Amino acid sequence: MTPFPVASVRSRFPALRRAEAVYLDNAAGAQVPDRVVAAVVEALETLQVNKGAAYAASRRVTARKEAVRARTAAFLNATAPEHVAFGPNATTLVTLLARSLGDRLTAGDEVVVTALDHHANVDPWRQLAARGVVVRTWRPRPPFGALDLEDLRPLLGDRTRLVAFTGASNALGTRVPVADVAAEVRAAGAWSFVDLVHLAPHALPDVTGWGVDGAVFSPYKVFGPHLGALYLGPALRDRLAPPRLAFHDPLDPVAWEPGTQSHEAILGWGAALDHLDDVADALDAAPGSERTRWAAVFEAAAAHEAELTTQLVQGLDALGADRYGLPGAEGRTATVAFNHPTRSPGDVATALAEAGVAVAAGHFYAHDLVVEELGLADRGGAVRASAVQYTDASDVDALLAAFADL
Ligand SMILES: Cc1ncc(COP(=O)(O)O)c(C=O)c1O
Repeated sequence: MTPFPVASVRSRFPALRRAEAVYLDNAAGAQVPDRVVAAVVEALETLQVNKGAAYAASRRVTARKEAVRARTAAFLNATAPEHVAFGPNATTLVTLLARSLGDRLTAGDEVVVTALDHHANVDPWRQLAARGVVVRTWRPRPPFGALDLEDLRPLLGDRTRLVAFTGASNALGTRVPVADVAAEVRAAGAWSFVDLVHLAPHALPDVTGWGVDGAVFSPYKVFGPHLGALYLGPALRDRLAPPRLAFHDPLDPVAWEPGTQSHEAILGWGAALDHLDDVADALDAAPGSERTRWAAVFEAAAAHEAELTTQLVQGLDALGADRYGLPGAEGRTATVAFNHPTRSPGDVATALAEAGVAVAAGHFYAHDLVVEELGLADRGGAVRASAVQYTDASDVDALLAAFADL
């Protein structure tokens, strides 16, 4: 396999060229390449008009947004563009979906959430308890935070309607076998809904291959502007009432997009997909469909990210950090949670920031996991370092050097 062309990829990101900081908080949002900046500027300069009108700029922006919807369907491996809706962010989209599902459920129906998830995919479902829905929690197994199917089975029953789970933990990086979970949920006669926000920057989604009924991800974690995207497969889309205005066709994706969605964010996300095409070129990926070429990019990037993860976990272990999650690079994304043996995560993050290294500290909205399962409330949670495609070994070295100075 051709090595991932990290130097050429880095040169395309203005924030990395400015080198104001070493960005290791990528799980909270990635930087964007020049192409995205240019597309956002172009949208604001030339396409700041209403969609769906007769004049030229309106026709242009409408067509271009629909083209991005179709490419997003390809990114997800959805069977049709109509299965994709955009929104401001993942949390808002899950909230809309949970409300719609809630309208269909009756008291005593059941929903399962996990204690591994970001609460964007937990709390909107737990709020259905106010309508008499029984909400059960699938807990990860200690010490590595893995979700085990054996622990899901007893939670599934005749009244289970939906299981909401994550593709990977945004705190520990632990990956979840999405296809296996979806198969188990389908066998129980329920719908599966997967949060791909943390996984999508690291692995090309495959909603059809995995057999999930719904999914969400945030293009702003995949080198695009702030934006959320929702996938609803036929089983969910045809049965749920979207939050539409009365005259909208419920099967039109705009029915799930109440109001006007940001032209510049959606077109900027299209440019992030163009960036993935550029990376495929730099990799000399074989000719093929856009999705096949993206698959080659993600495959090469995964090998690169695994090397960074190994460097990071071995470096932190050698420095005596308290580390959480899997021991090595296997079975995870390039996201690593740890603590200094004596200093609080907030202190560590501040000291690292002073050394020019950006990381996250706290519970990362994976509150159940960090507070209940890992028991880190007294310590103030953990520090999280997260790498993506454009991260290189010098970034990890900078983090380790600054951590060693503590
Ligand atoms: C796994 C996961 N799910 C959901 C979210 C929420 O995403 P958004 O900011 O798009 O609502 C995040 C954000 O960090 C996340 O990491």
